[in-house]
Amino acid sequence: MSQLSRRQFLSKTGMLAGGTYPAMLAMGMLRPAPVTPLKIEGGDKTGKQVIILGAGLAGLSAAYELMKAGYQCTVLEARERSGGRCWSVRKNSSNVETGQPLQTAGFDEGLYYNAGPSRIPHHHLLTLHYCKELKVPIQVYNNVNEATYYFSEGKGPLSNKKIRAREIHNDVRGYMSEMLVKAIDSKQLDAPMTKEDGEKIIEYLKAEGGLDPDKLYRGIARRGYKELPGAGTKSGVIANPHHLNDMLSSGLMDPDFYNVAEYTYELQMSMFQAIGGMDMIAKAFEREIGKNIRFQSEVTSIKNVSGGVNITYKDKEGEHSLQADFCICTIPLPVLSNIDHNFSSDVSRAIDYINYIQTGKIGLQFKRRFWEEDEQIYGGITHTNNELTQIFYPSYDYLSQKGILLGYYNFNEKAKRTGELTYLQRQELALEKGSLVHPQYRAEFEKSFSVSWHKTKYSMGGWAIYSNEERQTVYKALLQPDKQVYFAGEHLTYLNAWMAGAFESARSVVDSVHARVMAG
Ligand code: ALA
Repeated sequence: MSQLSRRQFLSKTGMLAGGTYPAMLAMGMLRPAPVTPLKIEGGDKTGKQVIILGAGLAGLSAAYELMKAGYQCTVLEARERSGGRCWSVRKNSSNVETGQPLQTAGFDEGLYYNAGPSRIPHHHLLTLHYCKELKVPIQVYNNVNEATYYFSEGKGPLSNKKIRAREIHNDVRGYMSEMLVKAIDSKQLDAPMTKEDGEKIIEYLKAEGGLDPDKLYRGIARRGYKELPGAGTKSGVIANPHHLNDMLSSGLMDPDFYNVAEYTYELQMSMFQAIGGMDMIAKAFEREIGKNIRFQSEVTSIKNVSGGVNITYKDKEGEHSLQADFCICTIPLPVLSNIDHNFSSDVSRAIDYINYIQTGKIGLQFKRRFWEEDEQIYGGITHTNNELTQIFYPSYDYLSQKGILLGYYNFNEKAKRTGELTYLQRQELALEKGSLVHPQYRAEFEKSFSVSWHKTKYSMGGWAIYSNEERQTVYKALLQPDKQVYFAGEHLTYLNAWMAGAFESARSVVDSVHARVMAG
């Protein structure tokens, strides 16, 4: 048998026409885009000093890379911990919010929830690269789970019932497929299509929608059983589908629920989390940077001066001033907006103008993992149309005794209203609304800890949000250094709300600083 060339093999199998990239990857002909360690060096010979404002992920990774290249770095951090918004709440974690007393978590040892980032997309290469380089072990984060619920409060015939996501997903898919088949069958569809194409599409839709031989949707096993199959004569009984009209009028096809969130590029499985809490990533950087981070050091002024920068900050001992060649400022803009500086008017306006999202989460500790024991929910998200918006089930320590689930994770107006409540009122809201989905809540509840990011000292927002117009104006104003001061963070990327944004932005700024230094 004559040997086929790789090209011949690929064309024969049709792989050059479609699906080529994965096929070639599998054959070792392409390598996936590598994220290599940042290779810059020679900073030590320049004697240049950099002050980095903020020990969140942007500040930490900037300091880490610059120090590897030989620069002298000082990181000023207002909090007594690193990580910024990358923060896992555990026993004794505490937080300060505007107008609220200090809140301290009383969770049991070993339990935690991620108040900030909780999931890493598989294509956030730089985030995964740092986990690897800094030896932070990761595990799969179960973002998509068909066993979770849709819960529509007070709307239509399906209101106030918890309905498994798999029922809605498959019923909607079924009815939509049936309707399309009917349209194609009766040639009402205008799309240019041959008879053969039409037949192929119908075959596809029958499989996609789970239609019966009559091309009708009458329910299918993938939406779940009312009696499970088992031994002997137990063949299983498939549950009846919901009526399309009922799903529509109960709002289960509204934006609150529809499935596209899980189709988005960022939220597609596989997703990951750092084992033991996402802030293990911050702690790993902190170990590398060591004493160069000054904690509880609150920046009070940032000034470009002749040939460098002058930063003043205050700590327990009083006010101090530091000089350096450059500054990398990663302070979130709503906080930076209240710090004295001498930036240009464009930069100053951008800092004051850019909006951050209002968002909040509450962690609820339960003495029993009823969502697993009673309801077979292992990770994933329940969606609601009420203030909770989402309930997240933990993707770690499955089958153990206790657990913390995320009682709500909401945004914008809902987060604003929730944020205005006292900690106890937020807990009551989470328990009251959560009990509608899980009646076990009241009997099993132990403790809570909530975070309203737009009210949290030193953050004052979830993440930056931009209109298209703002991307062309205020956003661009901060992409350039203001003299010796550079700006970095998720807010200076198109990866807002992701750790990847902090890392990508930091790398880009480190590259710029280094290039400028090397160019003399
Ligand atoms: N990155 C944020 C999240 O995972 C938006 O919810």
